[in-house]
Amino acid sequence: MTAAPGPSHAAHFVQPTARRERADLTGLGFRLDGGGESLVFLTPGGGAPELAYWGPRLTGDDTVDTLAAIADRAVAPSQLDAGQRLSWMPHAGEGFSGWPALMAHRNGELLITQLRASRVAADNGEAWIDLTDALAGVELRLTLALDADTGVLSSRARLVNLGAPLTLDWLAAGALPSPHAEVMLFDGRWGREFAPVRQSVLTGMLMKENRTGRTSHHAPPFLIIGEAGFGEAHGEVFAVHLAWSGDHRLFAERLRDGRVQVQGGELLHPGEVILARGEAYETPWLHITRSATGLTGLSDRLHPFVRDTILGGRLKARPRLVHYNTWEAVYFDHDPARLRALAELAASVGVERFVLDDGWFAGRANDRAGLGDWRPDRVKYPAGLALLIAHVRGLGMEFGLWVEPEMANADSDLLRAHPDWILGASGRDQPLGRGQYVLDLTRSEVSDTIFAQLHSLLAAHDIGYLKWDMNRELTHAVSAGRAATHRQTLSVYALIDRVRAAHPRVEIESCASGGGRADYEILRRTDRIWTSDTNDPIERQAIQRAFSIFFPPEVMGAHVGPRASHTTARAASLRMRALTALPGHMGVEADLAAMSADERAALAEAIALHKTLRAWLHAGRTVRLEHPDPGMVGLAVVAEDRAFVSAAQIATPATATPAPLRLAGLSRDRDWTVRPLHPPRRPRATLAQTGFLALGEPVTVSGRVLAHAGLPMPILHAGEIIAFLLTREAK
Ligand code: GLA
Repeated sequence: MTAAPGPSHAAHFVQPTARRERADLTGLGFRLDGGGESLVFLTPGGGAPELAYWGPRLTGDDTVDTLAAIADRAVAPSQLDAGQRLSWMPHAGEGFSGWPALMAHRNGELLITQLRASRVAADNGEAWIDLTDALAGVELRLTLALDADTGVLSSRARLVNLGAPLTLDWLAAGALPSPHAEVMLFDGRWGREFAPVRQSVLTGMLMKENRTGRTSHHAPPFLIIGEAGFGEAHGEVFAVHLAWSGDHRLFAERLRDGRVQVQGGELLHPGEVILARGEAYETPWLHITRSATGLTGLSDRLHPFVRDTILGGRLKARPRLVHYNTWEAVYFDHDPARLRALAELAASVGVERFVLDDGWFAGRANDRAGLGDWRPDRVKYPAGLALLIAHVRGLGMEFGLWVEPEMANADSDLLRAHPDWILGASGRDQPLGRGQYVLDLTRSEVSDTIFAQLHSLLAAHDIGYLKWDMNRELTHAVSAGRAATHRQTLSVYALIDRVRAAHPRVEIESCASGGGRADYEILRRTDRIWTSDTNDPIERQAIQRAFSIFFPPEVMGAHVGPRASHTTARAASLRMRALTALPGHMGVEADLAAMSADERAALAEAIALHKTLRAWLHAGRTVRLEHPDPGMVGLAVVAEDRAFVSAAQIATPATATPAPLRLAGLSRDRDWTVRPLHPPRRPRATLAQTGFLALGEPVTVSGRVLAHAGLPMPILHAGEIIAFLLTREAK
């Protein structure tokens, strides 16, 4: 294969120049410390490293030597004489009979590897392990980096072929031995992303694969494995995330000796990666996190990791502008006069960025035409976009634009001129998605043309934001007869990187029919994820809760939709819609002209409130509160001296009167003043004895009382929400 560039990675992981090397590391092992955690890897007999300890920071004598001294495992009858090692790169050549981390062949000749560590270097929480096998003709470098602040481990492998062409079928980015077997995977579909599913891996494998060329709605690349019955605040859990926006495989496997391994890597299609002599394949990063205190403890590590490492701190101290998105107001029906009026209404309710969604470009009368021609439609915009942009800018808002650069319709000038610029297998009809084809971005002339179009659009207009959409799954992802999802994914990254480099001030949103492309590698180069196409707050409460395990609220696109949801037809109050969107990157996506003046006033109030809170909401700690009623979704976002708490009833209450909501995450030794926000106006919705809820009066109570006795809850109908602002009292 043509040597494909590896995924581009943040400077954070660039290897330090002065590296401390210790010769004895190859024979014994090494330890990584960071984020209050220690990991000890042993390299017995100079083989691939084996995780011997992952737990709280080790001190004193609990070192590599101690762990090496106790590293032993019984061998059962009817197994190989030496049992089997479960290393970070388990492979068949050393007698491993589970799913190996490496599968490859040379024109049908099986590659039996016996990798030996030729060099192990560790420094500053990072380790590089070079594993070589001269007979098999491969070299493998394993990179392990433990983030010093958060204790998030990042692992990847790079395989170099030293011999005749080598077909790679599978290379895991790492194999985690798990002490536990209860797995949380994520299912979903359009409009219902991030649906957690729990199962235990009792025997065999629990595997999620994705073959759609984006992270997918149905199998996003996240897996959690933990103690039986783990919850938000209890149980040891490990989160595993493959940072890759193409196809992937993640699984937990119960080995025949009872152990459990978790692997993640890119799903490679037959013949997709064939390495010539000297060529290399590098896996995406696999990010793994441990928490001793349930899922909230995972977010406590992952959110700062995303903020500092994945985003490189670029969203910090920068307010996330409140959006107006035109999609659910006008769809393809663009009338500049109506859009100008909507922009005025948007500005009047406090919107800061006006995003012109799909429908603005040449020939885009509906979703069967126009993709590929990124210039304004002359019929809809006879004078181009400049007038609308000037109007929006004049109202004090930034202007954003929807694009879908990876796609083209047959009915476009682009494909009329270059019908062969698409991915596909010759002689085969491919099923279309939304009537569109996927452009073959692995061809430089295609990428260059799309880049040139985007570049001239951005150079000619005052545009601060792109909503970068991707609405078709990849099928027939073939370029010049070869499977191309891997190269296409890298080409998408390269295209986005190129646009960013040319227009560094333009923010980009990752969207794929809602949350179909949500991962840490796309987030390195984008600033927001469109969580879901559903703006129904009942659906959103559940989606956002699961999404928030891995992503902090400031990258979570959350919009106030119309009263009757366009995706579910369910009606919701403005309060429910607004308070659901408020903690995220807030926006509005509804026909503002169709709202009553009262509704717009309430919306303006909610946006104003969001603006006063966002600085700390978007830097705070997300605590997903637990409540005995599964229909009540409790959330707290906690900063040092204040907190936002909401309780949304998303199904009819399970009990006649609700249990109090116990507030985890507040400092317990301090007093907190609790103020209901928008207290319920229906008197019967409150309990007689909770006058403060009925009257909206503040109360001051200790964090301990709030954690253990909890906040009394009013009776809420399905679709109602109550929220509170808490401030910590001075001592
Ligand atoms: C996708 C997106 C929507 C919207 C439409 C426009 O479905 O997820 O938000 O932008 O495309 O066609």
